[in-house]
Amino acid sequence: MNEVLLPRSEYGDFDYESFQRRVQALTGLRLADYKPDQMRRRIAAMSSAADCGSFVEYYLAMERDPVLLAQFLDNVTISVTELLRDPAHFDGLRTCVLPSLIEQAGDRPLTVWSAGCSYGAEAYTLAMLLHELSPNASHRVEATDLNLGSLRRAEGARFYDKDIANISQERRARFFHDSGSGFTSPSEQLRRMVTFRRHDLLSDPYPQECYDLILCRNVLIYFTDAAKQRTFRGFYKALRPGGALFVGTAERVPDRYEMTYELIRPFIYRKPFRS
Ligand SMILES: C[S@@+](CC[C@H](N)C(=O)[O-])C[C@H]1O[C@@H](n2cnc3c(N)ncnc32)[C@H](O)[C@@H]1O
Repeated sequence: MNEVLLPRSEYGDFDYESFQRRVQALTGLRLADYKPDQMRRRIAAMSSAADCGSFVEYYLAMERDPVLLAQFLDNVTISVTELLRDPAHFDGLRTCVLPSLIEQAGDRPLTVWSAGCSYGAEAYTLAMLLHELSPNASHRVEATDLNLGSLRRAEGARFYDKDIANISQERRARFFHDSGSGFTSPSEQLRRMVTFRRHDLLSDPYPQECYDLILCRNVLIYFTDAAKQRTFRGFYKALRPGGALFVGTAERVPDRYEMTYELIRPFIYRKPFRS
């Protein structure tokens, strides 16, 4: 039976469940896979800002107004990022993990996946580190996100002061170009290494054993446990044997999962050569 949606001035459980189902049917976004408490609070705030008094009212308004819907999709995921986010952990990656991945690959360039890349800072960080380690190799960084607005911004490759605070003057001079108009862009060398495309970690397929390294940082914290487990399984499939997975500082691959990721550095896991 078709559910009847009536505007109500509340943000209750029933309204939120109905809102989740409707949004998924309309846009494909699987809100039910995100931790409900924070997501609900954020959506209630967006709804109030759009002068709506309930989840239902907000949904009906988005259904009528494509601009409101586009704004919702743009704001619902959190896009905070910066170049070299958590410098100490990237340093561990550069000194201890990337050299062994490069050696493992032999003559073949590395293929890296920045999953949940936001507007591209992580992907360009990776390109910079790989270029420093092997300037003549044609390593590739594939960067994906759910949010088309962030991907468009990533293609534009503009970084502002707050994005670039962790990059030393030496690296800025070597890898970034100051536009003179308040933003900085990565060099052509780095831009050639990076590609961007849309991929939803919760509903799109994962390829088979094609990445040497996957970065998925500060994305899974928003997912429910069941959604995290599915995602870690997807990454396991997508990694080559011996490949590495780098997660954010608030994230872990729990031991209870049946996949045999080995912890090789803080926040960096390896898929064994034989599993
Ligand atoms: C906080 S940003 C993290 C950016 C970057 N990884 C970093 O650590 O700086 C989280 C990103 O995850 C993306 N995201 C959220 N849900 C996603 C999903 N289901 N599939 C792909 N990306 C998703 C958001 O659009 C956002 O750009």
